[in-house]
Formats: sequence, structure tokens, C-alpha cells
Amino acid sequence: MRKRCIAGILTGMMVLSLVACGSREDSTPDTPVSVAGVTQVPDEGTQPDGEAEPTKAEQKPDGEAEPTKAEQKPEGEAEPTKAEQKPDGEAEPTKAEQKPEGEAEPTKAEQKPEGEAEPTQAADSQAPLTIQSVFAQNGMKAGTCLTTQMINNSYLADLITANFNSVTMENAMKPDYILDKAESIATGDIVVNFNADMAAMLDWARANHMAVRGHTIIWYSQTPKWIFHENFDTNAPFVTREVMLARMESYIKQVFEQLDDYGYTDLFYAYDVVNEAWMEDGKIREEMNYWYQIIGADYLWYAFYYANQYAPESIDLYYNDYNEQYKTDALLKFVDTLVDEEGNYLIDGIGLQAHLYTGDDLDNYLKTVERLGATGLKIELTELDVSLGTWQNTLAATDENLKVQGRYYYELTDGLFKLVQEGKVTMDALTFWGFADGLSWRKDASPLLYDTMYLPKYALYGVLQQKEKAGY
Ligand code: GLA
Repeated sequence: MRKRCIAGILTGMMVLSLVACGSREDSTPDTPVSVAGVTQVPDEGTQPDGEAEPTKAEQKPDGEAEPTKAEQKPEGEAEPTKAEQKPDGEAEPTKAEQKPEGEAEPTKAEQKPEGEAEPTQAADSQAPLTIQSVFAQNGMKAGTCLTTQMINNSYLADLITANFNSVTMENAMKPDYILDKAESIATGDIVVNFNADMAAMLDWARANHMAVRGHTIIWYSQTPKWIFHENFDTNAPFVTREVMLARMESYIKQVFEQLDDYGYTDLFYAYDVVNEAWMEDGKIREEMNYWYQIIGADYLWYAFYYANQYAPESIDLYYNDYNEQYKTDALLKFVDTLVDEEGNYLIDGIGLQAHLYTGDDLDNYLKTVERLGATGLKIELTELDVSLGTWQNTLAATDENLKVQGRYYYELTDGLFKLVQEGKVTMDALTFWGFADGLSWRKDASPLLYDTMYLPKYALYGVLQQKEKAGY
């Protein structure tokens, strides 16, 4: 938790400005195990032929030209539209609504005898294995990103409630969804206004006993540019550092105040205060990062300082980033600067987006998790997906490639559980960036656990630690 004293770390904001430049054997049941209510095994025929290029360049600094750039983000430069107008999920879900609700589907979650008669031992042992039940054995919540499309489709909603007990809004809590330009102009202060989609998903989360990760407050992307200008007018000059710091404080304060006003605070266990601020070369992201351009490198320190002031202790404050395995040194240096005058951390956790590829070195990734975990801060994989191939060359969803993916998920999950069990990493949750390939922002690289027909892939069995079904 925050307020933890860390001896020997007396850096803080001054330093930041300087730094800135600077097997488990599978316990296979004999009887067929139903997976989240679904008993089928993966069917190659249902897989998409993912020849298309990866949508993002964002990944991998494999040597030469650094790919990690704003342009990677589809949502990047253009002025964000208003929350209400926005579809939930930019590169998006073709599938869900088309999904027939009930016809000859795989067994549904609700078909499970929920609680009718007294559960016999036999019934217990046949309880469906779900992601959340496997993670619970390791003291962890299992999460997915969430859209209104998912909660409005009962088939998808059931898959989610069976498998997960934590959600992150894919978009609805991002800056461009919650900052209100008209109100900001009218009042002269930056104004946060939660939107209907967000409320609908939080109400759904509560009704379905889900915990929530907040995502995200201070980011260079999906952030309206008008917040950085005098009179909230993009034709006017940027405001001064002092004004921007005041806006930042007001923005962060309103986020936590409104959660409280609307009665949602208790749902949240974590919040990404800052997203994607560091580059693989150890420098702060400059391009399109107006927080940095106006305030300077200590914008990062102030973001956590304000969040620490206004967020309740019950919500862990996270820094979240991608390509974590290539930025590890920078991240380690950075979190050491996030301390108050007494050396207490202003941060509780490091969020690792974990947008991985089957071609990524898994041992190296697990070492990254271990190194970051050695800070004593919580670690959460916050957006896990494992695309087929490499970032330069995604592979088609052939049976062989899907088996490789199944094994990758198996070994990743197994490795993380071991780090947790050995006390090397404190990880109270792991979030997948969705669950079904057809709904993924990287659908062309088939990165998730269910295929485009919502049938389980080897990947799902890998996560469930059912080795014999995970592509081995
Ligand atoms: C980053 C962000 C997420 C999301 C993905 C793309 O990882 O943190 O919120 O935008 O990109 O879906």
C-alpha cells in the first residue's frame, strides 16, 4: 500500500526532472471438464485466417528505428469525439450482436445448476473450471476489458461473469470520454462528466459482483487537445505550467470525487493514474505528450501526488505501460522517484500491459515481471493478449500456430503463478484485453482465449492450466 516507507529512496520530484532525460503437472480430471460452461474442444475450422498485418507498430524496439510512437495508436492524433457519440471500442467488434442468443450453442453458464439443491461432493468436483476459479487458487482476480456491447449481449455477458471477476472499461473512462469541453468553457475550469456508458458498465459490474480497475487519467493519447489551451480553445496558445498543474489537480480530484458522488468508489481496487509515459530508450515520451511539453518531466510526479491526495486508500494507484520488457530499467528508475518528502511511495502498483506475441521470449518476460516485482510494488498484467507470430510478422491461425499460442499461455500463466507462490511478486489480479478474437483490437493476430465463434482455443486451456488440452 501507499505510505509504505522505503529506506534509501530519497529521490522524488527533483530527481525526476533529472532522470527524465534521462510445470505445475496438470491435474487432469478423468471426466470431461466443462470450461466456463463450454465443453467443446478447439475447432481449427472456426479460426480466422489471420494473414493481415498487425495493426500496431507500437511493439518492439527490435534494434533500429524505434517503433514506439503515437501513430501506433489508432486513436492518437485526431480530436476525440464526444463520449456519447463514440462507439465502444474503436477498431471494433463485428460479432457480438450477430451472435445468436441461444440456438444450438455450447452449453451456457446459466445452465449450470447454480444452487438449487444441496451441492453434493460429486457435483462440486464437476464444477466448471473457469479462469476466475483457477486464478482464485493463487489469490488473484481474473479480469477482462469491457464494452457496452458485451454487457448488452447475454451470451457474452454470461461468458464474462463465468470467467472473470474484474473488469476494465476498454474506453469509457478514458480522458476523451469523461472530459466535458462545453462545461469547461462555461466554468473556466476543466470539467469531468461521467458518461452513460460508464455508468451502465459500473452498474452491471456491481450487479455481477465484479471489481473494477480504473483506466486511465493522465495519458498522451485519447486525450482532448483543448484541455491544454487557454480558454479551452485549440486556436489559443498553450496555458502555462502553473495553469496546467492546476487543471491536472482539478481533473484528478473530480475523477475521485465523482466516483464517490455516484456511489461507485467501493467497486474500484486499482486505477491507472498515468498510462504510457516512457520510451524504450529511457526517455519520457515527448511527441503529442502535452502534459510533458507544458509542465515538464515532473508532471509524472504531480499526477501521483494529486492522485495520492484525492484517491481513497482502498484504490491502488498504478503506473501502466507497454513494451515493459524493453523499458524495465527506465520503469525501475522511474518508480523510485514517485515518493513523497519522507520517502513514502506515492504509487502502489506497476501495470504491465502485456501485449505479447508468441514469438516473444517468455523467460525474459517473466524475468521482467520478477525484477519489477522486486520493488515491493504490486504488479498486474493489465491488458494481456498474445498475438500469433511477431510484431513484424503475424501468423495465420493454423492449428499449429494456435497450439504454440496455447503452450505460451500455459507457460506464462504457470510462470506467473510460480512467482506469486514463491513470494517474488505481489499480484492480486491479471486482466486480459478481452476474451474473444472477434472482439479484439488485434483480431487479425488471434490473440485471445476464445475464437471468433466464441469456442475455446488451446489458449484458454493454457490459462486454465489444463496442459493436455493446451496444445502439447
Ligand atoms: C493501450 C491502452 C488501452 C487500449 C489499447 C488498445 O494499450 O492502454 O487502453 O487503448 O492500447 O486497445
